Amino acid sequence: MASDVIIACDFSGAEECLSFLDRFTEEKPFVKIGMELYYAEGPSIVRELKRRGHKIFLDLKLHDIPNTVQKAMRVLSYLDTDIVNLHAAGGSVMMKAALAGLTRPDGSRPLLIAVTQLTSTDQKLMESELLIEKPLDEVVTAYARNAAAAGLDGVVCSPLEAGRVHACCGAGFLTVTPGVRFSGGDVGDQKRVTTPAMARELGSDYIVVGRAVTGDPDPVAAYRRCVKEFLE
Ligand code: C5P
Repeated sequence: MASDVIIACDFSGAEECLSFLDRFTEEKPFVKIGMELYYAEGPSIVRELKRRGHKIFLDLKLHDIPNTVQKAMRVLSYLDTDIVNLHAAGGSVMMKAALAGLTRPDGSRPLLIAVTQLTSTDQKLMESELLIEKPLDEVVTAYARNAAAAGLDGVVCSPLEAGRVHACCGAGFLTVTPGVRFSGGDVGDQKRVTTPAMARELGSDYIVVGRAVTGDPDPVAAYRRCVKEFLE
């Protein structure tokens, strides 16, 4: 099973992102391009980071009617990414359409994973605003089951739910987990957080780390600390 630390490159433009990544002279981290950077720079930032040798998780969290998502995924399939995602809340038909759109004529495609519940969501928000009254971990595993049945490769969830997702969808079904902080670190807007070491213990396949690395005065050292805690 592949396992890695993915840096969330939540920057407002290419210049800032590239000068951040230039600091990594000895390693080529797996990077995540989210909405902020992609909306600022478009597909050129994906091509540039690929050209520099990075693996890429394109985190655009698609969520729309099946036809629209299928066509958008078709466009994204032309880019050389490693992981693409959508919201499981869009439903099974949308997820199957996404998979069809993402699959290239030769049958190849990036991994496709589904966001279950954002790691900034907690039980209270889910009940009061989304009107979902089931326990959060049950909702996450139900969405994961839907994603697996639709043929997807895994989910985005909190490390706290990784074990349950593997138990119901199989060890090979990927859990990509944001909401990672060093012990004592600033939690910010995240609610369901763990340390890299705890994420490993709980069975996460990939951890996504943003501000704990990008906001550190020595991001390379912070990244290495994540890798050491999570992988070694
Ligand atoms: O800075 P921080 O480590 O909190 O960043 C987490 C990253 O993971 C952000 O880019 C956020 O958009 C993303 N993410 C998340 N929760 C999800 C899916 C993606 O926090 N369920």
